[in-house]
Amino acid sequence: MLLETNSNLNFEELYEYLEQHKSCFFQEWTDQVLLDPHDIFKDNIKDNGLMMYKLVRNTLLGQIDKTQLKELAIKVAHERFEANSNIGDFVFNVNLGRSILVKFILNAGLENEKLQMSVTLVNQQFDQFCYHTVTKYTEIKNQELQQSKHFISQSHKDKLAILGQMSSSFVHEFRNPLTSIIGFNKLLRSEYPNLKYLDIIELELDQLKFRITQFLHTSKMDIVGDSKKKVELKTLLEDILNFLYPSFVDVDVNVTLMMKEDLKIEVYQDELKQVFVNLLMNSIDAIQQKEKPREIKITVEYKLDEDVMIQISNNGPAIPLEVRETIFEPFFTTKDLGTGIGLYVCKNIIEKHNGTMNCLSDQDETVFEIRLPL
Ligand SMILES: Nc1ncnc2c1ncn2[C@@H]1O[C@H](COP(=O)(O)OP(=O)(O)OP(=O)(O)O)[C@@H](O)[C@H]1O
Ligand SMILES: [Mg+2]
Repeated sequence: MLLETNSNLNFEELYEYLEQHKSCFFQEWTDQVLLDPHDIFKDNIKDNGLMMYKLVRNTLLGQIDKTQLKELAIKVAHERFEANSNIGDFVFNVNLGRSILVKFILNAGLENEKLQMSVTLVNQQFDQFCYHTVTKYTEIKNQELQQSKHFISQSHKDKLAILGQMSSSFVHEFRNPLTSIIGFNKLLRSEYPNLKYLDIIELELDQLKFRITQFLHTSKMDIVGDSKKKVELKTLLEDILNFLYPSFVDVDVNVTLMMKEDLKIEVYQDELKQVFVNLLMNSIDAIQQKEKPREIKITVEYKLDEDVMIQISNNGPAIPLEVRETIFEPFFTTKDLGTGIGLYVCKNIIEKHNGTMNCLSDQDETVFEIRLPL
C-alpha cells in the first residue's frame, strides 16, 4: 500500500531544496547513466528523467499522481523496446537516480521522522515506476515473440505449400507414363505368362507408385476419388506384409502379426495403407542398426465400441527423448536419403481419422502406437 503524506509534516522545505539542487542532481545522474550511443531515444532519456524527478518531488507535497507515473512508465517501456535496449540498463539508470536523490535528501538536514517519511515516499515512487515499465516492456517483448513464432510457423507452412506444388507437378509428370508402363507390363504378363522378371518389374513399379502417392499426401491435396470404406483390418495388414516381404527378407527380420479375428473398420484405405507401410519401412531402416535376431511385431487389440489399438514395434536402437519430440515434424530426418515426411504424413492421416499416434522407445524396443475410434 502506498504511504500517504502525514499532514503534520511539512515537506515544502524539502521540495524547495530539491528544486534548487535540480541541476546538480541531473549533472550527477547524466554523468553515470548507461547510454548506448546508438539508442534512437537517447535524447528522451533526460526528459523522462526530469519528468520522473518532477513526479517524485510532487509526492512530497502530497500530490501522488499514479496515473501520470504509469503513463510515463508505459511511454518509457515502448521507447526501451523500440530502441532494442537491455532492460537491465534501464533498471540500473532508475536505481542510480533513486540513490542520488536519496543522497540529496539525506544531506538536506531533515529531522529524523521527516527523513524517513520522505525516503519511503521516494522509494515507493521509484518502485512503482520500475514495476510498471518492466511489466509493460515484458508484455511487448512477449507479443513480439509470439509474432515471430507465428512467422516461423507461417514459413513452415510456406515450405509445405512449395512442397505441395512441387509434388503435384511431379505427380502429373510421372503418374501418366507410370500408369501406362504398369498397364503394358500386365499385357506382357498375359501374353507371355512364363516370361522371366515380369513379377519383379511389377513389384518395383508398385513401390514407385507408392512413393509418388506419398508426396501427394504431403501436399494438402486429397487423393482424387478416395473415400472412406469398410475394410478388413487383418486382411489389409497381411496384404501390406506381403507387399513388403522382399524388404523383410533383405534385412533378415522376423515379422509377426498378432491379431485374433478380423475386424471391419471404416477408413480411407489407401491412406491407412500408407501409414502402415511408412511405419514398417522406418522399422526396417532402424532394425538394420542392430545385431540379429531382428524382430518386428504388429499387435492389434480392440474392444467393441471402443478404440482399436495398433502397435508396430521393433527391437532396434532406442530413439533418444530429444529426437522423439521432433520426429513427427515435417522434414525431420536422421537418414542420409530421408525426406523426413513419413511420420508427418502418418500423423496427419491418423488425425484425419480422429485417431492418435504416439511413439514409445527404450533400450528393448521402439513402439509406434495408433488408436482409431471404432
Ligand atoms: N522405428 C524407428 N526407430 C528408430 N527411429 C525412427 C523410427 N521411425 C522413425 N525414426 C526416426 O524418425 C525420423 C523421421 O522419420 P520419418 O519417417 O518422418 O522420415 P524418414 O524415414 O527419415 O524419411 P522418409 O520421408 O523417407 O520417411 C527418422 O529419420 C528416424 O530418425
Ligand atoms: Mg520414414
